[in-house]
Amino acid sequence: MQISSDAASLRAQVAEWRRNGERIGFVPTMGNLHGGHLRLVDEARSRSDRVVVSIFVNPTQFGPGEDYANYPRTDAADRQALQAHATDCLFAPDVETLYPDGPALRTYVAVPELNDILCGASRPGHFTGVATVVTKLLNLVQPDLAVFGLKDYQQLLVIRRLVRDLLLPVEIVGGGIAREPDGLAMSSRNAYLGDAERRRAPTLYHTLQGLAARLEAGETDYPALCAEGRRQLSAAGLQPDYLEIRRAEDLGVASPDDHNLVIPAAAYLGRARLIDNIRVHRPGGEPS
Ligand code: PAJ
Repeated sequence: MQISSDAASLRAQVAEWRRNGERIGFVPTMGNLHGGHLRLVDEARSRSDRVVVSIFVNPTQFGPGEDYANYPRTDAADRQALQAHATDCLFAPDVETLYPDGPALRTYVAVPELNDILCGASRPGHFTGVATVVTKLLNLVQPDLAVFGLKDYQQLLVIRRLVRDLLLPVEIVGGGIAREPDGLAMSSRNAYLGDAERRRAPTLYHTLQGLAARLEAGETDYPALCAEGRRQLSAAGLQPDYLEIRRAEDLGVASPDDHNLVIPAAAYLGRARLIDNIRVHRPGGEPS
């Protein structure tokens, strides 16, 4: 596995593969790799000749008071895991490489229709930081395809939107959510949970499963279902940030005529902010 921290050696390596006609897959991450990340690496592997993974804890997507300084960094274990998953190149730049004039955003990429809702409402500027760094990474790596997890559903839609609007020549693939045996979606931030919190954390997913079953059975009183879901979270000791029923296509407010839905949710539990979602196909429409 080649390890690059500067743009020149990354570009040289990718250019060589490209000259040989090889198809390049890319998985951007912030490191502290777990089964969710590695599932995306395997997905990229199965669709490409060469796989590039980036590890970069991006300062511009963290708000003041968030965990940028303490974000878990596990470089040696990450390198081993990537090697075991047949990664060809690890790109691990420092902040100066991606932000040569410092991380204050002078030029940025924003997707206004998705910026301020759901996670964006609680994390102002977060998705602008994500959209900007992903655009930079796609420009550096120039992959044929890039894989993003469905776990961060809003993020995936932000990336799809910017790639479409900026005519970036890359295919965006959504990778399935990897879960612990009890249903909790894998996340670097699960490490912030104490033992008792960890036992309560799967309630988030179980609540979404219960609501999904009721939507599939034909219930359409979305506000009542969401209120009930939030009550279930609170009763289990989670503090709901949001839990909504939205259109899967664009996260717009869902009407009873919509059939392809998603239930995105976020909740605080101790020091952690957990997010998860479940997609639902209500009977009657065409699956998306
Ligand atoms: P990070 O949180 O490290 O996640 C990297 C990728 O792994 C994202 O596409 C995310 O959706 C995916 N992922 C995380 N947990 C997952 C799970 N349990 N199952 C499947 N996929 C999962 O997301 C980011 O980093 C950053 O915002 C980034 C896109 C790298 C930009 O800085």
